[in-house]
Amino acid sequence: MQKKLHIKTYGCQMNVYDSARMADSLAPLGYGATPQLDDADMVVINTCHIREKAAEKVFSELGRLRKIKNARMEEHGRDMVIVVAGCVAQAEGEEIARRAPWVDVIVGPQAYQNLPALIGKIDPSSRQAVVDTEFPVADKFDLLPTNESPRGAAAFLSVQEGCDKFCSFCVVPYTRGAEFSRPADSIIAEARRLIKGGAVELTLLGQNVNAWHGEGLDGRVWDFGRLLFALAELSGLKRLRYTTSHPLDMHEALYQAHAEIPQLMPYLHLPVQSGSDRILKAMNRRHSRDDYLRIIDRLRDVRPDLALSGDFIVGFPNESDGDFADTLNLIARVDYASAYSFKYSPRPGTPAANHDGQIDEAVKSARLTSLQQLISAQQQKFNHSKLGAVMDVLVERPASKAGQKAGRSPWMQAVHFHAASGEIGDIIPLKIVGAHQNSLAGCVAS
Ligand code: SAH
Ligand code: SF4
Ligand code: F3S
Repeated sequence: MQKKLHIKTYGCQMNVYDSARMADSLAPLGYGATPQLDDADMVVINTCHIREKAAEKVFSELGRLRKIKNARMEEHGRDMVIVVAGCVAQAEGEEIARRAPWVDVIVGPQAYQNLPALIGKIDPSSRQAVVDTEFPVADKFDLLPTNESPRGAAAFLSVQEGCDKFCSFCVVPYTRGAEFSRPADSIIAEARRLIKGGAVELTLLGQNVNAWHGEGLDGRVWDFGRLLFALAELSGLKRLRYTTSHPLDMHEALYQAHAEIPQLMPYLHLPVQSGSDRILKAMNRRHSRDDYLRIIDRLRDVRPDLALSGDFIVGFPNESDGDFADTLNLIARVDYASAYSFKYSPRPGTPAANHDGQIDEAVKSARLTSLQQLISAQQQKFNHSKLGAVMDVLVERPASKAGQKAGRSPWMQAVHFHAASGEIGDIIPLKIVGAHQNSLAGCVAS
């Protein structure tokens, strides 16, 4: 009988990618995916440690899982294996083992290739989790089985992992380890498999994806721009995106890629975090506000229809009203199509958590609200600017509303349209007839 696997994913797209590859690696053990938590024989929670709320969620989730595990054992005499993966497993593995002894396996992001073996080591008579939070030198990507399961029309592909930047607020360098770039041949082989499985759009992933510098097809070290040019050669690949990039790693070949590669979509997520030089310095971002604005100008110069998105942190230690005003006026100057924003959350083990001048929660909340008002007005304006335009839309899935399908514009906007308009994986021209805060409505262009 096939066993059922339920994976719950928190955090960034890299976790989404890792979850899919963990599912692939468990298939040979007889596990098939179920959306139903209650009848799962194994539950994997793939966790995120980036902010306090995200990490705390894990423990409440584990409390809930314990009840389900016990009830299943009592009612059906069948166990439910609980696996905690991801960045909380990496950062707080021991704490999880101590506070939640009903967890069977704790596995960090660098050790997923060991998951089937770890499951084999579970001893039901012991109340001790099997733990692997090592940072092995081996390339986890090549040791995980090749992914054969179709990933849909738009697929993720991790090309780089880890981070050496050590922004003073961030846990990622500790949870994901040092920067590692996959060699180009392994990336291209995986891209081919994804395309064969039906993907027409690939989003290359990395904590600092544009810092990628891996072995090229000619044996020399390539930069990220060069990798994009190589991927653009693949037949059947119609759209290319990448995320997340860091301003310090913008380089010549990457500007050139934006200027010359037609498949590279005109949308870029380029976080800046703050518009104040003083705060950028305290954050250890190692670039100034002007450096960032110059990068944006140059990108818009080579790709005038480029839409931008970013990440912002409000209430970093010692952020004054003046610093915050600088962030607002940077946002006004850049004019984003969308952005993510967060209240600063002090994270254990990061330098900023110990800084004097922690900001009051009420001040953080007020700043977040005014920043989000500005971003949301910009997003609305951007969406409205597309009214009446005809644009290519990638058909991705049936929409939640009956009789409709959903897809993406070149600028990452969700577009809804009549279900008969195209098949999944098609790129169709649609006329935009409605613009909302978070989506567009399209109809077949006549
Ligand atoms: N590598 C990416 C971002 C990774 S984390 C980059 O350098 O931009 C995603 C976002 O979470 C960050 O851009 C930041 O805005 C936010 N973030 C990270 N640590 C945080 C913290 N301690 N408190 C609040 N937000 C945080
Ligand atoms: Fe975190 Fe900074 Fe690295 Fe991004 S660049 S992952 S924010 S340390
Ligand atoms: Fe979260 Fe880890 Fe991604 S901390 S944002 S899941 S790299």
